[in-house]
Amino acid sequence: MSADAVTRLSGERIDHRFKGLPLDADGLTVGELAAQRRNLFTGGFTTPVLTLSAERLRHNLRLMESYTERHGLAFAPHGKTTMAPRLFREQLEHGAWGITLAVPHQVRVARAFGVRRVFLANELVDPAALRWVAAELTADPAFRFICYADSVRGVELMDAALREAGGRPVDVVVELAAGDGARTGARTEADCLAVAEAVAAAPSLRLAGVAGYEGEVPDATEERVRAWLVRLVELAARLDGAGLFTGTGLEEIVVSAGGSAWFDTVAEVFARLPGLSRPALKLLRSGAYVSHDDGHYRSITPFVRVPEEGALEPAFRLWAQVVSRPTGEQAFLNAGKRDAAYDLGMPEAQVVRRGDAERPAEQIAVTRLSDQHAWLETGPGADLEVGDWVGMGLSHPCTVFDKWQLIPLVEADGTVVDYIRTFF
Ligand SMILES: Cc1ncc(COP(=O)(O)O)c(C=O)c1O
Repeated sequence: MSADAVTRLSGERIDHRFKGLPLDADGLTVGELAAQRRNLFTGGFTTPVLTLSAERLRHNLRLMESYTERHGLAFAPHGKTTMAPRLFREQLEHGAWGITLAVPHQVRVARAFGVRRVFLANELVDPAALRWVAAELTADPAFRFICYADSVRGVELMDAALREAGGRPVDVVVELAAGDGARTGARTEADCLAVAEAVAAAPSLRLAGVAGYEGEVPDATEERVRAWLVRLVELAARLDGAGLFTGTGLEEIVVSAGGSAWFDTVAEVFARLPGLSRPALKLLRSGAYVSHDDGHYRSITPFVRVPEEGALEPAFRLWAQVVSRPTGEQAFLNAGKRDAAYDLGMPEAQVVRRGDAERPAEQIAVTRLSDQHAWLETGPGADLEVGDWVGMGLSHPCTVFDKWQLIPLVEADGTVVDYIRTFF
């Protein structure tokens, strides 16, 4: 990855494009503002403002680095979660093999910041995007790109576009669907075999392995997820047995699964991967782990099942201000759907600040979000008045990051030490 390109982000000017930042910072570069080490509460930041905890991010990065190392997994964190090149760099510095992405635009962002290995966990049949990938592969011999295929028709479309473009073959993994009624992916082993044969026969493609996403196993339980993962590793062995992984220069067979909900089961089943004709690259793709959350992922993280392996820490806090307190039971904050995720649960009121004093948010619940307001229900013991700041935990990292383009990175004492730029 290009350290320069990430460093250049600190040369960007602060202005009206970025929410929550101090108004008197307009015209400063991000680096200049960071160097001022302003305090989040006294440094002129305006509400609503989303923050990331520097120490919790560090903790999560280190935890997954040691977890994947301990379990013999390569790691390509899903970059669609944050779309923050600065965090991609940290993930790579913490041992990641590469970055997973979902759509061509995200690959462009990663390439603009010099990410060398991209795992596109999706089908790619758009000729314009395929031509661009081919050009990137030609321009940069160090660029490794792998994407999915789940249909013979898709393989034909890829091959047609790539043959026209010329250049190095594109690595393809066959996607096995996570079950009937799941999302993308070929439904049966026979379908997968047909796709694999088509890839192996296409001059512009190279069959590199198998992949899927256990996060889409319908009505997921540990047993169902395990059963599907066993199918995935057996598929790898079957395609290998059929002599399909023979593309020129192929060094490893990729076997990839794993979001942030079942990586313990992925580690367990991947550890039992049968011997293949080449070394296996067991690639985990968790994305949400990096910020973790105070809702959905808090309840489904594998560390609940394996607490002896550690615990992720929620790194987001959204600060908003009480702008209205019309009754003893109601209050309204100036943050809403534009600022907080709401697709997998409501924000959680955690602390209240009045002046310098911070205390737990007792008897305060977020019950609803409008576009620009949070609806609070308050109990008789809630001490809350207009002007107070309320710090909230959030649920579902992916739909938090995408609402903020420049996110203050805050140490525990409130010092803002840097800013995380996102590109959605
Ligand atoms: C194909 C695929 N892989 C990996 C992930 C990452 O999972 P998580 O967001 O739980 O970390 C996702 C998330 O949607 C995904 O769709």
